[in-house]
Amino acid sequence: MRTAAVIVAAGSGTRFGGPKHTVRLANVELWQRSVDAFVAAGTDQIVVVGDVPGGLAGGPRRRDSVAIGLAAVAPDTEWVLIHDAARPLITVELIARVRERSLVGDVDGVIPAIPVTDTIKSVDGESVLMTVDRSTLVLVQTPQAFRLSALREAHSADQLDATDDAAMVERQGGSVVHVMGDPMNFKITVPEDLVLASAWLRAAADRE
Ligand code: CTP
Ligand code: MG
Repeated sequence: MRTAAVIVAAGSGTRFGGPKHTVRLANVELWQRSVDAFVAAGTDQIVVVGDVPGGLAGGPRRRDSVAIGLAAVAPDTEWVLIHDAARPLITVELIARVRERSLVGDVDGVIPAIPVTDTIKSVDGESVLMTVDRSTLVLVQTPQAFRLSALREAHSADQLDATDDAAMVERQGGSVVHVMGDPMNFKITVPEDLVLASAWLRAAADRE
């Protein structure tokens, strides 16, 4: 079964303080780490969107960048994995877990998620309104896998913005399930995240 990966590396990195994907992490550029993981996972086609070598020019919103990547995916592809280049600690194991669930063949999308460990409250300005039951909440990551046809349909039917691709498939009534994510597959959003990622890689190198 043919699988493609779309790695989105466009955007302005406002919270980071500038473009973040060509920043080096343990001597390898951020975007390259995700490409390496998908190559190691044996992905048939890898499309990168963003201002990096070999990358396609991105769009104004994340979903626009994803759409640009989707347009370049080979038509005989059955499943496409969408991944944020801003998650450089992605592992081959996580890609395999998402892929394996998709192979069951009963759903339109598979996303990695981790349990919420902090207490979650709903607020209105300064006021705390209530404590939310966190047992039914998860934190969502990428790579997110979709049947290519389902994701393409969701993109053309739904014009609303979304912070992930699953949201569009869900809004079209598609079936999406989650598998266990990886706590270290966090997103580099602010400069402090890069410090954590770099410490993690140093510790991993020490263990070897
Ligand atoms: N992304 C993209 N195109 C955009 C916006 C985001 O390809 N127009 C990608 C980013 O490269 C990143 C992922 O979507 O891999 C998640 O986005 P985020 O971390 O929010 O990156 P930015 O949008 O660049 O950062 P910020 O929101 O702080 O400006
Ligand atoms: Mg953003």
